[in-house]
Amino acid sequence: MIIKTYEVLESTNVTAKEEAEKGAEGGTVIVADRQTAGKGRRGREWNSPSGGNLYFSLLLRPDFEPDRASMLTLVMALSVAKALDGIVGKDCPRPEIKWPNDIVMNGKKVCGILTEMGLKQSAIDYVIIGVGINVCRQQFGAKLVDKATDLETLCGQKIQRDELLQRILEAFETYYTAFTKQGNLQGMQEEYNGRLVNLGREVCVLDPGGEFTGIAGGITDTGELCVERPDGIVTKVYAGEVSVRGIYGYV
Ligand code: BTN
Repeated sequence: MIIKTYEVLESTNVTAKEEAEKGAEGGTVIVADRQTAGKGRRGREWNSPSGGNLYFSLLLRPDFEPDRASMLTLVMALSVAKALDGIVGKDCPRPEIKWPNDIVMNGKKVCGILTEMGLKQSAIDYVIIGVGINVCRQQFGAKLVDKATDLETLCGQKIQRDELLQRILEAFETYYTAFTKQGNLQGMQEEYNGRLVNLGREVCVLDPGGEFTGIAGGITDTGELCVERPDGIVTKVYAGEVSVRGIYGYV
């Protein structure tokens, strides 16, 4: 594993993509202290000030079909949650996962993951998993203050981001090995569901084909969220975004 650290980058995902296109190996990690144009999901920005947060991107060159790549985001979410277990004190809230890949503690987001893929002749050329973790104490703007928090505020302790990164990469290696062997999430499905903040809660599925609500069950071994509608029909949600009532201020 090669770790390249920078003081400032536009976005670690962008640099990882450039490195990938220049032939960098799978396992390359790009880390920055600050990003000038950090990218979030759905075209949003990821505010990335300097001085203690963790922003990194892991480049992978997996040898499986492109439709499997979205599962890697769930593998990384579980790896982050597991790594946080070993870092935060016992009095700190348990790291949970909001499907598919936000890490939440005490109902607020502390980590976001953005996975991007490059194809060559319809096969995967590279996958980049970008991870942003709110580590140090910070002020969130009015739009985020009810939804986001940081580890130091939550846990009242100093968090070493190098150690956190190390633990995430170690956990990822273990889960990724299981994932590539089995070709799906079977080996970690139970653990993932055990951290799923949505489990048993009412969710609103923002499906392009129409919004609906239901009760979230767990994930399938391919990472879809099972949602039981009021008529008892269970829908497996793949691409739609799920918002959860009761956390993030969604009521
Ligand atoms: C989300 O919207 O929840 C995903 C946020 C992902 C942010 C990380 S920070 C490191 C990497 N580089 C980026 O530009 N984005 C990801």
